Amino acid sequence: MAKVDAYLYKGDGKMQILILYFSRTGNTKKLAVAIEKGVNNVEGVNAVLKSTDDVTKEDFTNSGGVIAGSPVYFGVMAAQLKKIFDDFVGIRSKMEGKVGAAFATSADPSGGKETTMMSIIQVMLIYGMVIVGDPMSATGHFGTACVGSPSEKSEENGMKLGQRVAELVKKLDG
Ligand SMILES: Cc1cc2nc3c(=O)[nH]c(=O)nc-3n(C[C@H](O)[C@H](O)[C@H](O)COP(=O)(O)O)c2cc1C
Repeated sequence: MAKVDAYLYKGDGKMQILILYFSRTGNTKKLAVAIEKGVNNVEGVNAVLKSTDDVTKEDFTNSGGVIAGSPVYFGVMAAQLKKIFDDFVGIRSKMEGKVGAAFATSADPSGGKETTMMSIIQVMLIYGMVIVGDPMSATGHFGTACVGSPSEKSEENGMKLGQRVAELVKKLDG
């Protein structure tokens, strides 16, 4: 199988994984930081953490995987994250075969974390990406999610998601 272009991070020869988030009050950002740690635990992989305000098309195309997260807004991702996927539609074909995963934070336990992660995964599927959930050693479900600010356990689960995506990107590149 042909390798996906631009898996190698230009700077230091490491593979790059983008962790992209929108966060208004900090909960989703905290989870993003935990996921970043998990990615960076894997040798040869470098996490790039970007908010929806700072992310560029090059961050997408230079990465072997994208882990995207949002607060639950009415059961789906926030408009700020959706706008990035809308605006970047022109690079969709360059994203084919890269790994995608999602995370979310909500206010209510049944407030829509899974539907929000699915809204992100749905876009990633249409971007041609290879989708993974969190590993069995975390929850073995849709991705990483929590209510409010992440607990230590949720941060640990986030790290495991980051690690899983990083290991898979390495395998796909191998
Ligand atoms: C416009 C808006 C819509 C929201 N909709 C939901 C919702 O449908 N279900 C829910 O549980 N929480 C909802 N929330 C709460 C946020 O998802 C929750 O507080 C989240 O952790 C905030 O993330 P942040 O700190 O990263 O901004 C909503 C918040 C806002 C501002």
